[in-house]
Amino acid sequence: MSTITHNIELAIAALQEGEPVAIPTETVYGLAGNAESSEAIKKIFAMKHRPLTHPLIMHVSENSDISQWVEAVPEYARQLMAAFWPGPLTLVFNARPGRINPLVTGGQTTVAIRCPKHPVAQALLSRLDFPLVAPSANPFGKISPTTAEHVQHSFPDAHLLILDGGRCTVGIESTIVDATHPDAYQILRHGMIDEQAISYVLNRSERKEETSIRVPGKLDSHYQPEKPLYICDSTETLQRFCNTSPDAWVLSFQKDALFSQFQGYQLPSDSGQLAYELYYRLRMADQSGSSVIVMELPANEPGWEGIRERILKAGTFVCDATLPE
Ligand code: TXA
Ligand code: MG
Repeated sequence: MSTITHNIELAIAALQEGEPVAIPTETVYGLAGNAESSEAIKKIFAMKHRPLTHPLIMHVSENSDISQWVEAVPEYARQLMAAFWPGPLTLVFNARPGRINPLVTGGQTTVAIRCPKHPVAQALLSRLDFPLVAPSANPFGKISPTTAEHVQHSFPDAHLLILDGGRCTVGIESTIVDATHPDAYQILRHGMIDEQAISYVLNRSERKEETSIRVPGKLDSHYQPEKPLYICDSTETLQRFCNTSPDAWVLSFQKDALFSQFQGYQLPSDSGQLAYELYYRLRMADQSGSSVIVMELPANEPGWEGIRERILKAGTFVCDATLPE
């Protein structure tokens, strides 16, 4: 069984010895390790059952000079760092050759860097003389944890040290922006720092084209609960689905009739609040006695891209035509 602690000294000692430690960030909990130690990184890949070709984000402290790791920091990336660091924004740069452990980059020539805002993550990073890799602290493809207990539950057989920093305030993973191009940016993974916020700071919009950069968003399934999750884009479809699945766990924006018949949770209409609740509520649904989860998909509106991306990769989309009459 893993150990949950508030003692940062224990976490520092374990990380210095090359052991993985689960740490809080403002987005989700990360499975952290010394980014300069191949042994430490290999332990993280093994624990997560993550393919070695899937690169990791390097987490740095607020006062790090990132030019030691990256070849160039374009002007627009500086503006984004000034506006959003520390915070839930990851930037992908061209790595300085030979400066980053190839296990971090998955053998690519780029490196993803993030400066987390969570005070416990920052306190840790400022005390260590190496950056941390920190993929989300869940087995590959599963739901990310937003509490220390969720990390414990994600790795039931591990003897992991989990540093408790409370419930994550953002609730979904950071936005990832490709900053390898000298003057054009592209969002590789949506998050709560959305396209509008980024284009507002930069006063221009995104370069939209196919990218050869590999990202989790390129996988069809990810963020998956244990129980089958069905996604409906209208209340009518949701209702019809429920009619044929009386024990469904319902995650819907509607209340009234639905919740007098079904167990579940009424989704908040604010995107920030829904991001905060999303993984937390999917885990509750997994713990319930229901055999399936059915969820309403939020409308495709600005600010909701990150949430929709997570939901669509977590389950199976159902439309009216696929349901029995
Ligand atoms: O909010 C977050 O970003 C959380 C917390 C713990 O910081 N971390 C996180 O890590 O979500 P992970 O490993 O679950 O997802 C990060 C993704 C990887 O799956 C990878 O595809 C992408 O970032 N990534 C890492 N390095 C990259 C690179 N050089 N180029 C493109 N994508 C990269
Ligand atoms: Mg992840």
